[in-house]
Amino acid sequence: MANQLLAGKRGIITGALDENSIAWKVAQKCKEQGATFTLTNAPVAMRMGAINRLAEECGTKIIPADATSLEDLEKLYAESVDYLGGKLDFVLHSIGMSPNVRKGKPYTDLNYDFYGKTLDISAGSFHKMIQTSHKLDAMNEWGSFVGLTYIAAQRIFPDYGDMADAKSLLESIARGWGYHYGQSKKVRVNTISQSPTKTTAGSGVGGFDAFFSYADQMSPLGNASADACADYCVFMFSDLSRMITMQNLYHDGGFSNMGIAPQIVEKFSGQ
Ligand SMILES: NC(=O)c1ccc[n+]([C@@H]2O[C@H](COP(=O)([O-])OP(=O)(O)OC[C@H]3O[C@@H](n4cnc5c(N)ncnc54)[C@H](O)[C@@H]3O)[C@@H](O)[C@H]2O)c1
Repeated sequence: MANQLLAGKRGIITGALDENSIAWKVAQKCKEQGATFTLTNAPVAMRMGAINRLAEECGTKIIPADATSLEDLEKLYAESVDYLGGKLDFVLHSIGMSPNVRKGKPYTDLNYDFYGKTLDISAGSFHKMIQTSHKLDAMNEWGSFVGLTYIAAQRIFPDYGDMADAKSLLESIARGWGYHYGQSKKVRVNTISQSPTKTTAGSGVGGFDAFFSYADQMSPLGNASADACADYCVFMFSDLSRMITMQNLYHDGGFSNMGIAPQIVEKFSGQ
C-alpha cells in the first residue's frame, strides 16, 4: 500500500514505547508513505530502549522530551525542524498516563497530586505541544495535529478512572487550538477516538481483557486494530483530509453508535 500519500511531508511522532504502541505502527506507516519524521518519548520511557530499533528501521533520530516540559518541547521542535530540513506538516500526540490508574486509585478516591499529573501528561501536554509549535511557527499551512483519545470522554467506563477527565480535556483542546491555529495558519487539530487496543497503556486499565472482548463483540466491524488506527493517522496527516479540523473522530468499528448486540444478549439469555 505504498502510494506515497505523505511524500515530502515532515513530522514528529510521540509515544512509541514498544512494537505494540499505536505510535510505533504510525511511524512504520508514515515511513511507508514517504514521510520523514523524528521520534520522541519521555527520557524515562526510553530506558527500555526498544525505540532505538524503530529509529533504525525508519532511518531517523530520537529526540528525548518530557511532553509536560516546555523547555524540552522547544528543543524538540527546533531540533526536528533542523534535522528534517524545514517546517513540519504533522505531529502525532500519542501520550497517556495516569498515576491514579497505575496505583489502583478509583475515581472516588483520587490522589490530587496524581490527578494533576494525569491531566498534565495526558492532555495538558497536547496544549503545550501545539502552543510551542504556534509560538515557534514550526508548522506549515494545512499541517495536521492528531491526538489519540477514548470514548470514556463521553461515556462512563468506571475502570478508566481519571483518564476519562483527561480525554475530555484533550478533545476540548483539539477544538480550542483547531479554532485558533486554523484561523491564524490554516493548521488542523483533531482527535481520533480509538477502540481498546492491547498496548502498555491500554492493558494498564483494570479488566482490560474482558472489556476488549466486549467492545469487539459490540462493534459490527470488531475492534479497530493499532494498524488500522495508523492508516487513519496517515489519512489525517495527508492532504486528502485537509478540510477536517476541530473534530473528535471515532475509529472504533462502529462501537460508539451501538446500543446492544445479539452476541451480548445471548450471554444473558436464560438467566
Ligand atoms: N490502548 C488503548 O486501548 C487506547 C485506546 C484509545 C486511546 N488510546 C490512547 O493512545 C495513546 C497511545 O497509547 P498506547 O495505547 O499506544 O500505549 P503506550 O503505552 O504504548 O503509549 C503511551 C506513551 O505515552 C508516553 N508517555 C508517558 N508519559 C510521557 C511524558 N511525560 N512525555 C512524553 N511521553 C510520555 C509513554 O512513554 C508511551 O510511549 C494514548 O493517548 C492512549 O490513551 C489508547
